[in-house]
Amino acid sequence: MMILRLPERSDEAILRRAHQELESEGHQGFLLHGYEGSETEFENYLDAVSKFSEGRDLPQGMVKDSFLIAEVAGEVVGRISIRHTLNDFLLNYGGHIGYMVRPAFRRNGYASEMLRQSLLIARDIGIERVLITCNDDNLGSIRVIEKHGGVIENKVDDNGRLLRRYWIENV
Ligand SMILES: CC(C)(COP(=O)(O)OP(=O)(O)OC[C@H]1O[C@@H](n2cnc3c(N)ncnc32)[C@H](O)[C@@H]1OP(=O)(O)O)[C@@H](O)C(=O)NCCC(=O)NCCS
Repeated sequence: MMILRLPERSDEAILRRAHQELESEGHQGFLLHGYEGSETEFENYLDAVSKFSEGRDLPQGMVKDSFLIAEVAGEVVGRISIRHTLNDFLLNYGGHIGYMVRPAFRRNGYASEMLRQSLLIARDIGIERVLITCNDDNLGSIRVIEKHGGVIENKVDDNGRLLRRYWIENV
């Protein structure tokens, strides 16, 4: 069974490791909200996550964002980020929901389950049409989005890479 939950102080070592794993693959890091590797005090990072999830003291232009980690049998397998509203950047490139699965845990259906649960959370938040974007060559992510009813609107140029923009009806 998978649970999505807020990160806690005791997750520090594993989350720092997960961040490095994704970064070393060339992806945006696992941790968001200003996390900059070992220089970032973990307490400050957790504080930033709380502020984003409550929409409190947000940096200029940033939106409320629920960041949750996915745990299966005591292992942190992935993370999601649910943006409650879209700014220009999110509307064009970022979308409402982002997810990542740690390399060792891929191809187990975890991203699919993370998106399934995220859509329920998004529904509670009141997001009736969910925008999700992914690179045009990201076969895993394309499959996850289309399995959940994603309908492609278009493909846009994102710094020389083609990005797919999908909408999921979520009512
Ligand atoms: C993309 C990603 C989230 C997929 O996570 P995952 O847990 O392996 O995905 P799932 O196991 O739920 O797989 C979902 C489907 O995609 C397929 N799939 C997964 N990875 C795939 C790949 N690399 N190539 C082809 N198909 C793939 C699975 O076979 C499965 O298909 P099925 O439902 O027909 O059985 C994961 O590879 C990842 O975190 N990548 C790096 C970050 C990233 O790309 N995030 C998404 C940004 S939009």
